[in-house]
Amino acid sequence: MVAGTKAMETVKAGFRSANQGLAERLACLHDEIKQDFDGVNRIAVAVYDQRTDLLRSFVDSSEGDNPFEHTMARLSELKPLLRLAKTGGRRVVNDLMNHQTSMPAHLKRLLRGGYMSSYTCPIVHRKDFQGFLFLNSFQVGYFTPDVVRRLRPHCEVVCLNTVMELETIRMIQAAVRTIHQLSQVRDEETGGHLERMARYARIIAQRLAPQQGLSDEFVEFLYQFAPLHDVGKVAVPDNILFKAGRLDPAEWEVMKGHVARGIAVVDVMAETFNVVGAPYMRVLRNVVAHHHECIDGSGYPAGLVGGQISLEGRICAVADVFDALTSRRPYKDAWSNEDAIAYLVDQRGTRFDPDCVDIFQKSMAAVVDIQRRVAEVEID
Ligand SMILES: [Fe+2]
Ligand SMILES: [Fe+2]
Repeated sequence: MVAGTKAMETVKAGFRSANQGLAERLACLHDEIKQDFDGVNRIAVAVYDQRTDLLRSFVDSSEGDNPFEHTMARLSELKPLLRLAKTGGRRVVNDLMNHQTSMPAHLKRLLRGGYMSSYTCPIVHRKDFQGFLFLNSFQVGYFTPDVVRRLRPHCEVVCLNTVMELETIRMIQAAVRTIHQLSQVRDEETGGHLERMARYARIIAQRLAPQQGLSDEFVEFLYQFAPLHDVGKVAVPDNILFKAGRLDPAEWEVMKGHVARGIAVVDVMAETFNVVGAPYMRVLRNVVAHHHECIDGSGYPAGLVGGQISLEGRICAVADVFDALTSRRPYKDAWSNEDAIAYLVDQRGTRFDPDCVDIFQKSMAAVVDIQRRVAEVEID
């Protein structure tokens, strides 16, 4: 009975507020779990992206350092975890110090954080593998069969919370994608453009993360929502959206209205999905609202200056413009990477955030890799 009551407390902690992000909820869940299992010193969730085979750190509640902050790896290269993903099995390693593993780098990081034992559960939803839940302890041998059995309902709650959050994000993306398809916005904003700019945005965010204290959750949300920046173009009439020549001043005003319409769409979606105030909705709203703002105040719609522009907006501006320049459009050829970078550097500190430009410029190897990978996807 007592165990059941405690599990209910965990459930309540997990669902206390829809407006809390998963990271905050995980911290609450960790507090509840600690009351009965004081040896659980770290709970972390990594999410898996089937298209790219990437497993990425997402949210974490650690008493010590988070050994996997801003980490991402291909699941196919992590053989023991790949096996768990395929079989749905759980894994206990009760003495990390003496564990033979094919992931020595990961093991070293855990040991450096002081963690001596681990328990790993795959997160599965409707038979699809979604990621992993990791529990770690500073104690050797903490995850005994009895502890693992009693922890199980708590783990289920964390997994369910993760699945719910990912599902909501996917629903919002699907809703926006449907709008895009219905409105033919895709004609210009091809899937390739959206995928590449999202990956560029993720690179900038990941590399800015240490100096700006960005969480993995923020990086993930930005990656998921960057492709939705132009959702407001659904409201721009075709004769303006697809006009071959230059827009006259009146048409240009209508075109610029896509930002305000995008914000309206996001706000309606937040109400409809009952997620007003959720951290990922804030990221989505900032992406939509600020992707045409400029550091010197010359952007639109609000003419915001410098730090008044959200980081999401500043990052997306660089990612979006670089890909637009290096892509062929009906009215222009594709620029070379060198010319596009020269443009970003020229506009550094006026149109674009200097830090974002500098980080992006230093990331050209990763950028070229994205161009190769996403181009290959399009050909397929
Ligand atoms: Fe736009
Ligand atoms: Fe775009």
